[in-house]
Amino acid sequence: MSTWKDRLAWLRALPLPIPAEADMPSAVAEIEAASYFGGKPESVIFQKEASLGEAYEITKTASGYTIRGGETGLLYGVYALIFAMETHEPFPRGLHKPCYALRMLNCWDNMSGDIERGYAGRSLWFEGGRLSWEADRIRELGRMLGWAGINALCVNNVNVRGEAHRLIEEDLGELARLAEALRPFGVRLMASIDISQPMLHGIPTADPLDGRVIDWWRERAEAVYRAIPDLAGFVVKADSEHRPGPFTYGRTHAEGANMLARALKPFGGALVWRAFVYNCQQDWRDTATDRPKAAYETYAPLDGQFDDNVILQVKYGPFDFQVREPLSPTFYAMPRTQLALEVQLAQEYTGHQIDLYAMNPLWREIGRALPEGRVRHVAAVSNLGRDENYFGHPFAAANLFGFGKFAWDPETDPEDTLRRWARLTYRLPGPQEDALVRLLAGSRGVYEKYTAPLGLCWMVQPHVHYGPSPEGYEYDAWGTYHRADRYAVGIDRTAAGTGYTLQYPPEVRARYETLESCPDELKLFFHRLRYDYRMADGRTLIQRIYDDHFEGYEEVEDMAAALRGLDLPEPDRSVALERMDRQLRNAREWRDVVNTFFHRLSGAADEKGRKIYD
Ligand code: GCU
Repeated sequence: MSTWKDRLAWLRALPLPIPAEADMPSAVAEIEAASYFGGKPESVIFQKEASLGEAYEITKTASGYTIRGGETGLLYGVYALIFAMETHEPFPRGLHKPCYALRMLNCWDNMSGDIERGYAGRSLWFEGGRLSWEADRIRELGRMLGWAGINALCVNNVNVRGEAHRLIEEDLGELARLAEALRPFGVRLMASIDISQPMLHGIPTADPLDGRVIDWWRERAEAVYRAIPDLAGFVVKADSEHRPGPFTYGRTHAEGANMLARALKPFGGALVWRAFVYNCQQDWRDTATDRPKAAYETYAPLDGQFDDNVILQVKYGPFDFQVREPLSPTFYAMPRTQLALEVQLAQEYTGHQIDLYAMNPLWREIGRALPEGRVRHVAAVSNLGRDENYFGHPFAAANLFGFGKFAWDPETDPEDTLRRWARLTYRLPGPQEDALVRLLAGSRGVYEKYTAPLGLCWMVQPHVHYGPSPEGYEYDAWGTYHRADRYAVGIDRTAAGTGYTLQYPPEVRARYETLESCPDELKLFFHRLRYDYRMADGRTLIQRIYDDHFEGYEEVEDMAAALRGLDLPEPDRSVALERMDRQLRNAREWRDVVNTFFHRLSGAADEKGRKIYD
């Protein structure tokens, strides 16, 4: 039986490991070309032009190919060429460069070795409070990231606690060695920092305008850049979910972010400031506060006040990586701020890498909704871990691969991306490859059907976020309410309700404001509806909820049958089938719990007479 060690994710065309001596992307490019084309008649000539950076151009010559590119461009070029050969596609013509400048992975790894919202085992680089990693695995990982075109990796959790403070102090030398291991693949490290860190050093405040605080960060940045000259920057979660921040000192987030950005500026570093700010101590009785409004309220007034090396990183939806949310209004509101889009590969709300949930269809929607030219960077919460296959579920690799493709060119067709991943990974016969692509391409729609309906969000088990609990977050402090009663469900977020829709520009607002124009899949996000409300297709809301949940489960049964028909190599087959059994149980649970919940409240019978458990 093969193991994942012999067949690394989608890199099976590259069986030989990259030697430790390769220290720069152009050196790795030469090695990859030599090992891939070694026994083949074609030869590859590299032409380095530093000014091209990450861009590359491949041309055919009489005896093979020429790849012209910058330091990292050469590596991306050789991967693109091998990719084309392996997927039997024409190689890309013309000059290619990525759409997003920083294509970041945010790892929520704690130094204890566990990973917040991690579903693929323990951390690849932390254990027992210190850095601890296997060089071979880090080179493998670097190769995956390089192939995917990801160019920055933030090593530690955005919730910086305990030993994590040491990363930019005592553990800096060790962090520099990790940076060195990833550098040959075009990947620059980043670190999450705690804005109150100076207080661990006898400074009585973390006020961003206090001279002692400013000096402390300036000196720290100098020390960090001495150790890691190409660090991409710092990531900050401030005034969010009990993290410290400028609000404590009556300062704005622009003041906080700019103070740190100025410390990084001389070294070319970016300061990534997360816009995930809301009141997480809301009283559920308070109907005036509406959590999705929070980020816009905090940041839109600050547009134009951030320094040019601050990047404001905004989650795609106004809540928190739910199965379906509208695009965050913050993206439209800040034309004078550098923005990054944040998505989540870790399947926190989307099945924990047990249930299938391929994300490219979601990102394509997001990419198309983003206002033209406003977003320059993209970040994804990582789904990686120390499991032998890095992802827990072998198909979850498609999401990292797909993120890279999306970040390079958001217009890439999601099904093409899934097909390419499937082909590189499995080389199945045509009809089986089609079946696998269909299985993945439809997985988001299926998951959406059997979980929370029509944009309602948050019916998950609190804290773990797997499995149903319709009222799990209803009387809690997180601002996540659906307020279902006997007659109706949902929150009116129109101008007549909480006013959330007013945060959008008029043409977007118009779409969501009226029931007629609001797409069905988001109706319960924007509106409070009676159960007897008629949806666009003539069904009542309650009937649509029942139908979706019954159909969702049946579709998982179809997915299970399709999966059984695939001749996947082991151990992928056994792992995927075992997880599919768990997905079936999960979908059944969701179906029955959600249907029973709404049936008990509404008393409405299912028109099709299916079993609902009261
Ligand atoms: C979610 C998630 C947390 C995480 C937070 C964040 O709330 O459940 O684990 O810390 O997002 O994005 O900062």
